[in-house]
Formats: sequence, structure tokens, C-alpha cells
Amino acid sequence: MTTKPAISSRWNSRFSFILAATAAAVGLGNIWKFPYIMGENGGGAFIVVYLICIFTLGVPVLMGELLIGRRGRNSPGYAARNLAAESRRHPAWQLTGWVTMFTGFMILTFYVVVASWAFSYVVKSAQGQFHQADSEAITQIFRGMAGSASEMLLFTALLVIATAVVVGKGFKHGLERTVRWAMPVMLVLLVGLAFYSALVGDFASAVNFMFKPDFSELTMSTVLIALGHAFFTLSLASGVMMMYGAYLPTNTSIVGTSIWIAIADTIVALIAGLMIFPLVFGYGLVPGEGPGLIFQTLPLAFASMPFGVFIGTVFFVMLLLAAFTSAISMVESIAAFTVERFAVSRWTAAISTCVVLFALSMLTIFSFSGAGWTQVDITFLGKHMTNLFEVIDHMTSNILLPIGGLIIALFTGWAIRSKFMAAELQAAGWVFKLWQFAVRYIAPIAITLVFLQLTGVLS
Ligand code: PFF
Repeated sequence: MTTKPAISSRWNSRFSFILAATAAAVGLGNIWKFPYIMGENGGGAFIVVYLICIFTLGVPVLMGELLIGRRGRNSPGYAARNLAAESRRHPAWQLTGWVTMFTGFMILTFYVVVASWAFSYVVKSAQGQFHQADSEAITQIFRGMAGSASEMLLFTALLVIATAVVVGKGFKHGLERTVRWAMPVMLVLLVGLAFYSALVGDFASAVNFMFKPDFSELTMSTVLIALGHAFFTLSLASGVMMMYGAYLPTNTSIVGTSIWIAIADTIVALIAGLMIFPLVFGYGLVPGEGPGLIFQTLPLAFASMPFGVFIGTVFFVMLLLAAFTSAISMVESIAAFTVERFAVSRWTAAISTCVVLFALSMLTIFSFSGAGWTQVDITFLGKHMTNLFEVIDHMTSNILLPIGGLIIALFTGWAIRSKFMAAELQAAGWVFKLWQFAVRYIAPIAITLVFLQLTGVLS
């Protein structure tokens, strides 16, 4: 059974699509996660491996998702169902769409909470709370914020409402228009901050740290972390890119645009590193501090640098914008699905999606505030988890993302007939062969390796 194409809107231009897809891809993953995992994994050597992963694994899977979306012309679940039917494959292949949409939505339930930390930090920074603060005081501020359920409910609610408004306005007036101003503003702020940081920080040490690879530091685990992150940072296997593919005009080159998106996302991550590490080294901080790098380490630099209150505020505004455009992208596919499935208006779909999102975000909010009902004691596939946030994070980022990516690779590489994919890709024969080799062999093998490592089988 096939579903009628439900998506009739199209990106305004190729540029508009690249901007939107980059805005979806660029987020907390680039500015929060990339610098800290690079910091923890030895800097330069990590970057080299990460770049290889982005271009050998990320780009082919990204192309696969855009192909599914464009040929299916529906929200991810129905798009995959259409393609399975067209190639006369078992209807179970439609899971490719449903699993990834579910993953994206579950990621979003904690993603909005971390984004709301950035939101709260905009206010705290502007109030001068970090000014002259020492390490102890900043740790107190961070713990006080993440642990305060009322504060987090407030900021998360504001963010979720803003997301509902953008998605409710529809594809053209909401998503496309918002991205057109938010993304350039975010980029200008990031580049401005990077220049300032080079001026007041220790730029030479940062460049040394990031671009002088020391391969003796390379371990199997570094390789696998880089691989997993390549996936996360490009928003793969979360329904987003399939959805964005459904809005792609028929004649847009999927090969060219995918490469551009990967390059743009990578450049943003590198600039984020070049912005953060000069401050880390210049102010005598530690690069390998882990997830607290942005929320606990960096404010120490803002505390004592010239114009620190202003610069800190700008930094968190930039982070908030980056996270916001990613949040919109994830709600978009669920809202489009709700419109298709229940024949409701855009507004009804966006609002109901966001109500459910807000309700589920409480699982994370109350995990950080330490509420008794969120505390668990589970060990699953080698990972010990103590609260519901850790369960959702681990299940999505480490388990569902790799599984989703694997299914996408197998679906586009083996299940859908080659002639359909070749017709949709519209590229030279050797390009198609190269892509097919990547989704048939490289991606499945690489993803299986990450998966086995993350689940402890390979460690
Ligand atoms: N790619 C985005 C980031 O790097 O922040 C967010 C993201 C979206 C991650 C969807 C993962 C995902 F499944």
C-alpha cells in the first residue's frame, strides 16, 4: 500500500535548503559536544579521524536519507513505506522511517532541556552572575540551575512554545523563514566570538592542540567515538534529513548539497573549537573537562576577561540559536506526520507535538532535580544508568542512532531497487557506484563496529 504524496511545499532555492539543513545539523553537537569530546580525546588526532568518518560514513547515509525523503514525498514513516512498496519489499522496511522519527523525538526531549540551560545562562550572564566568580561559585550556579525543577520547567516551556509557534506557522512562513535569519545571525556571532577569543586568549596553543595530530594518542575507542559523533552532528537517523528531503525540488543535486552540508557543519564545529580553546588555554583551564566544558569551564574565562559579561552573554545567545534551529527541525517531521495521519491543521499538529514534548522533557528535568521517581538503577548492555535522563540519552544516542543508521544504509543500499536510487540520485555512474558501495558495505560494517563497542562487546 502506498500513501499519496502529502508534501507539496518545496525549498525556495538550493541555498535555502543548504542553510536549513545546516541549521538543523549545527547545534549543541557542534558547540557543546564536539569541543569537549575532542578535548577528552587528544585534540588533533581525533579531528583527523572525525573528518574521515564524516565523509566516508556521514555523507553517504545523509544522501540515503535525502533520497528516501524526496522519492517518498511524505513524512519519514510514510515515505519509507512508499519506497518499500514501490520496490515490492516487505512492509517491515517502513520501520526505517518510524524508528528514526521516534529516535529524533526522544533525543529532542532532553535536547530542549540542555538548550534551556543555554537559555538560562543567557539571563545569568547578562545579569553579571559570572562576573569575577571563581570555580566554586560557577559550579554552584550550574548545579543550582540544573537542579531547580521550577527554573528548568520555565525555560523549557518558553523554548517549546517558541518551537511550536515556528512549526505551527507552516513550512514556508515558519521553518524556512526562521532559519533564514537565525542561521546567519548565529554564524556572525560565532565568527565574531572566535576573533575576540583569538585576541584575548592563547590562539597558538589552541591551533597546536587542534591541528597537530599526535597519533600515539589514538585508540580504538577514539575512532569509535568519532564515528558516533559524525552521526549525531549531522542529525542522521533522527527523521530530520528524510523530512528535509521531502521538501527538495526534483532537480536539486543530492550529492552536491550533501557534501556542502557536511562541510558547513564541520567548519562550524572547527570554528567553535577555535573559539573555545584559546580561552581555555589562555585562562589556564583544562581542555579535557568533559560535558562541563561549556557550562562550567568557559564561564571561568568570561568571569575575568575584558568585556566578559557581554561576551559571555553573546556566547550563550549564539548557543541558544544553534540549538533552537535544531529543535525546530526535529519537531517539523513529527508535526508533518501528525498532519498526514490525523488530517489536522498545522497549528493543531505543532501544538499537540509540543505538548507531548514538554510532558516528556520532564523526565529529564526531574532527573536533574533528583526527584525520586526518576532515579533508577539499571545496567543495560554494559552501561550503568542512575536516572531517566541517562536512560533516554543512552538508549537514543548510543543504541537507536546506530541501529537507525544501519537500517537506513541497508534499506537504501539493498532493499530499494538500484534503478530507483540511481534515477533519484541523478549522478554519474561512478558516483552512484561509490555511494552504493558506501551504504552497502562501509556504513553497515562501521556502524556495527560502533554498536558493538558501545554495547561493550568489543571493549
Ligand atoms: N545535529 C544536531 C546537533 O549536532 O546538535 C542535533 C541532533 C539532531 C542530534 C538529531 C541528533 C539527532 F538525532
